[in-house]
Amino acid sequence: MRAHPPGLRPTWAEVDLGALRRNLRAFRSRLGPAVKILFVVKADAYGHGAAACARAAQSSGLCDWLGVSSVEEGAALREKGVRLPVLVLGSLYPFESFAVAARYGLTATVASLSAAKSLASAARRRGRRVSCHLKIETGMGRIGMRPPAAAQAAEHLERACPGALTGLYTHLSSPEESPSYTRRQLAEFSRAVAAVSSRARGPLLRHAAASAAALRYPESRWDMARPGLAVYGLYPGFEPVLTLKTRVVFLKTVPRGTAVGYGASYRTRLRSRLATLPVGYADGFLRALSNRGSVLVRGRRCPVVGRISMDMATIDVTRVPGARVGDEAVVFGRQGAREIPIRSAAALAGAIPYEIPCGLTARVPRIYLS
Ligand SMILES: Cc1ncc(COP(=O)(O)O)c(C=O)c1O
Repeated sequence: MRAHPPGLRPTWAEVDLGALRRNLRAFRSRLGPAVKILFVVKADAYGHGAAACARAAQSSGLCDWLGVSSVEEGAALREKGVRLPVLVLGSLYPFESFAVAARYGLTATVASLSAAKSLASAARRRGRRVSCHLKIETGMGRIGMRPPAAAQAAEHLERACPGALTGLYTHLSSPEESPSYTRRQLAEFSRAVAAVSSRARGPLLRHAAASAAALRYPESRWDMARPGLAVYGLYPGFEPVLTLKTRVVFLKTVPRGTAVGYGASYRTRLRSRLATLPVGYADGFLRALSNRGSVLVRGRRCPVVGRISMDMATIDVTRVPGARVGDEAVVFGRQGAREIPIRSAAALAGAIPYEIPCGLTARVPRIYLS
């Protein structure tokens, strides 16, 4: 039996950095050589482990920038030796964050005129080189400036802090749902690009597209695309990167009519062989998959029976010949020729694919395969 990783509890996630690099290469080949890639490693690289994924991307030479959500996330990457340019995608607040971003060599997002003023005064006070990208609101309704305000912010920055303004970007809300809305957002972004570029002294890096938009709308690519989903293999056509594994820790044969789990929401219809797995919603095995999801054991799909509890889940292994305590079980990902795709499990749970890896908790060790 293959050993499981350190720690006695046999529940772990394998992150295939080779697959991640292949996804980066495949994504790059879809964009063409002139378009840069900002690989989004926010939220601990969507639960995959930011330092390991960022280092893999850096050493691959396939990625030009990294994107994080906060100054803390960017600082943690710098402390782990990551040297690629890093854009902090969130709106920085409190404004003292601009000084910390500059100390770590992070490019800040400036989403308002007051943020532009604070960035410029932080740079003057500390005498540091700062760099920022303006965030343009084109229809996401979250953070950012409309083109006229963005032009004002650009003017202020060029006057008060020449050289700080290095890019501008927007975020598209509906590239998979609405081509017309996406095109309207892109048209608004074009207006912002014209307004801001005419005030800027140097060339600006312009970007708008995450995975879906970059793949579906060539006109959304501008100078750089910002994929997360595709690189983690969670977008159709890319290789899965993460596999959540555990082992059967308990096995029993029960008569027809046996109740399983909280609320006795499941009763066996026949004499059955049930296996208990040490994985639950406190690991990230979504409770919404209770009585709906399945897990792979010995290459066969075994239904989840009863409710998934905090630390354990029960599956029916009646149709798995020779199932034993210690057998490896794949909760999400591939086992042999079979796969429980994260996208399908998320759909079954009424969730989006992002939620599954982001929801894997700290007690699940990440093991890196390269
Ligand atoms: C501003 C921004 N850019 C890019 C991305 C990456 O999106 P995706 O994972 O869909 O490629 C995100 C993800 O939330 C984002 O917020």
